[in-house]
Amino acid sequence: MKPTVFIDRKLPREVEDYIAEHCIIDKWEGNESIPRQLLFEKLANTNGLLTAGTAIDAELLERAPHLKVVSSMSVGYNHFDLAAMKAKGIMGTNTPHVLNDTVADLALALMLGAARRVAELDRYVKDGSWKKGDGTKLFGIDVHHAKLGIIGMGRIGEAVARRARFGFDMEVSYYNRSRKPEAEEKLGVRYSELNELLAASDFVVMLAPLTAETNKLIGKKEFEMMKPSSIFINISRGQTVDEQALVEALQAGTIAAAGLDVYEKEPIETNHPFLQMANVLTLPHIGSATTQTRNDMAMLAAQNLVSALTGQTPPNLVDELSV
Ligand code: DGY
Repeated sequence: MKPTVFIDRKLPREVEDYIAEHCIIDKWEGNESIPRQLLFEKLANTNGLLTAGTAIDAELLERAPHLKVVSSMSVGYNHFDLAAMKAKGIMGTNTPHVLNDTVADLALALMLGAARRVAELDRYVKDGSWKKGDGTKLFGIDVHHAKLGIIGMGRIGEAVARRARFGFDMEVSYYNRSRKPEAEEKLGVRYSELNELLAASDFVVMLAPLTAETNKLIGKKEFEMMKPSSIFINISRGQTVDEQALVEALQAGTIAAAGLDVYEKEPIETNHPFLQMANVLTLPHIGSATTQTRNDMAMLAAQNLVSALTGQTPPNLVDELSV
């Protein structure tokens, strides 16, 4: 008898076909997230769940007595209550590696976009404001040869550092819970304590995974350490930053601008102050979202799911936090 799985998001046809070779599939086809009560009903007799951001907590696990694996189509897995999963012997898997370059590309896009005011300039041209000789008010800040500070030097951090060092001649320092001598050697990056990094950097990029240690790691005090000309980028998780402190730092000119892919609450509220701020570039949590990379993530999530349900150790069983 094949194991049963529930898929709570749309997957490419070939990925679904692959899962169907090994499992009996039930799936959610709606465009919005599946209502939680309905998910509970679906999980009552299910062995495997393929999801992305759905909170896997004690309440859900209680409702899923036959669950063996939760395969997340994401590198981050802060939505897993790992202790509760372990207590019930449920495996959790993620999709690392395949998205490194795609997320790193978007980090650079946020840096360039915020520094060179790309969204503002696009609006300026399209709304007919472009008149001859009116120029200086939309001048930006140079990215090349500037100082970049990366918080969280995992695989994506290294991919950002590589682009910054060799593509933009930037001086790169990083802060991480452990030093990375190999990255220092290979990429010419320097380890820095957090406060020193904040004070020295022109661009600060948040890439640390969300954990108890990184929850609101950057707040009022940290923004006050940064240069008034600096730009803050967040492409990790919104909760790594005190969002109210970020709003206030941007309004007060404590820092110059921000480029954000992630927020405390997603989707962002339609009355959020960021949406009225010209110095904030806002993206809809889309770091890994190219067609190719999302397909690769879907296939990896499917492989993790199938191997866990066919008696093998899934290739990306999560245990330690390393993004
Ligand atoms: C991830 O995979 O964790 C990313 O946040 C998705 O874009």
